[in-house]
Amino acid sequence: MYRTQTCGELRIADAGRETTLCGWVQHNRDMGGMTFIDLRDRYGITQLVFNMSENEALCRQAREAGREFVLQVKGTVAERSNKNPKISTGDVEVIVRELTVLNPSKNPPFTIEDESDGGEDLRMQYRYLDIRRNPVRQNIMFRHRLAQETRRYLDGQDFVEVETPVLIKSTPEGARDFVVPSRMNPGEFYALPQSPQTFKQLLMVAGLDKYYQVVKCFRDEDLRADRQPEFTQVDCELSFVDRDDVLQTFEGLVKHLFQAVKDTRLGDMPRLPYDEAMKLYGTDKPDTRFEMIIADLKDTVQGNGFRVFDEAGAVLAIVAPGCAEYTRKTLDELTDFVKKPQIGASGLVYLKCNADGTLKSSVDKFYDAGNLEKWKAATGAADGDLVLVLAGETVKTRKAMSALRLEMGRRCNLLDGDAFSALWVVDFPLFEKDEESGRLYAMHHPFTSPRQEDIPLLDSDPLSARANAYDMVINGVEVGGGSIRIHDRGLQQKMFDALGFTPEEAGRQFGFLMHAFEYGAPPHGGIAFGFDRLCSVFNHEESIRDFIAFPKNNAGRDVMIDAPSGISDDQLKELRLSLRGE
Ligand code: AMO
Repeated sequence: MYRTQTCGELRIADAGRETTLCGWVQHNRDMGGMTFIDLRDRYGITQLVFNMSENEALCRQAREAGREFVLQVKGTVAERSNKNPKISTGDVEVIVRELTVLNPSKNPPFTIEDESDGGEDLRMQYRYLDIRRNPVRQNIMFRHRLAQETRRYLDGQDFVEVETPVLIKSTPEGARDFVVPSRMNPGEFYALPQSPQTFKQLLMVAGLDKYYQVVKCFRDEDLRADRQPEFTQVDCELSFVDRDDVLQTFEGLVKHLFQAVKDTRLGDMPRLPYDEAMKLYGTDKPDTRFEMIIADLKDTVQGNGFRVFDEAGAVLAIVAPGCAEYTRKTLDELTDFVKKPQIGASGLVYLKCNADGTLKSSVDKFYDAGNLEKWKAATGAADGDLVLVLAGETVKTRKAMSALRLEMGRRCNLLDGDAFSALWVVDFPLFEKDEESGRLYAMHHPFTSPRQEDIPLLDSDPLSARANAYDMVINGVEVGGGSIRIHDRGLQQKMFDALGFTPEEAGRQFGFLMHAFEYGAPPHGGIAFGFDRLCSVFNHEESIRDFIAFPKNNAGRDVMIDAPSGISDDQLKELRLSLRGE
């Protein structure tokens, strides 16, 4: 037997027993007469003791064991005189009798400690060492537990896990495809799935009724903290359901997960129509841990000769509680913040509602006290509050205001670091318009059903048609999204028409699905959760990378294995590919 216990297992009750442990050297402290080694494995750390006066050769051998050496030790468990309450094995130590170096180690390029001295790039290059560190390992274990609980819940609800293929053809989730050349079919390519969307719908036609899969998806899009080119979905589909059935089932799943892995009772999730979300929060993924809803000031402020407001499509305001005393410098900082290119506002107007009841704005030239009282009333500001106003084109201004709201939430300490606030955003528009080409795109995907009452709008006013689609948002992060699908061939055809697909194009890309719909497709709908995002949101972390064992960097590279990389001329030839332009 390599080991009889793990390094996290021994307790005071084990004192006197013989043990064999295996693990990595965390610390090696030579105290002259004694040598102490902290031996680490996944389960914990156990202190080993070597006594010079009892066994000099063994003690010398122990001193040679450097950081990250892999050891096997045999010895006796003893009560420690100097107990360490910080670790679970802190009451005991092992008096070592026999030591075997199973493998030496080079000195690691960064310290394997909770707070490492290694930079991000170095830790990514040696990710297997990074994973030895507690915080990283704990994230990976967390992910495992979340996946187990997800499977347990869905299995308990009669969902069947089905694997769908990875070498497929383009799926319309709106990103670019990763493609794979086919050797056996020269000049032809597979696309990696952006999601298993079409397959899960086919599984409903196949009568499986309830499907799920914890599945890798691939999207060639710009990376951010919450996006990876390959990521994992908990992908689900159900037959004979309406929207409320789906929302209920998956609200149940997420509540179960919070209970099971965080011991937290998550409240019921309100349902907020998309239009309302955009009006109140300026975004379709509002962080509802704090209120600070957006007020529409347009009617209140227009007509006073201030051109910025008079010519604006939207004049929006938020109230920052207790911030009337902000200094010029802080207000300048906020102005710089909203003017950043990624925020996109042209400037910031403020109104200070001073504690003594007086009002002071940055546009006093255009607005007298009477006007400003109206602003105060329209925004619901109280004495001591600061009103921040942005104006401009509606979509841009909402986006900027949404960012400013979050910034003020942070500055005012309204973002409770421990809180979770979840909601459903529903009734998304069915289409969005690409301003350049004038073309309509499906906001979710082209298989999403319009709301029943909006079907006639497909002909008359498609941009006003609402989709039977929904997103789950937790703490301002879109953790999942789905829809009730079109199961009627005629309506699907109409949808493709509206999206500007010729019948040939639609046939070529999605003929298999349209065909399947002719063989008794049941009404169906579903959802997919971004599993990496669920992991990060559950832990109040912004980056999903921390929860992926081997993630890609911002340039989409795996720096550990050095991918992507070139391939040999032979491979290129075999695939009938040539690198033009080289
Ligand atoms: P959607 O495209 O909204 O829907 O994706 C579902 C969820 O997947 C997560 N997600 C990502 N996570 C990490 N990196 C990415 N690049 C990334 N892209 C998306 C998000 C998102 O909410 N087939 C539909 C689902 C359906 O209709 O049932 C789909 O894929 O959390």
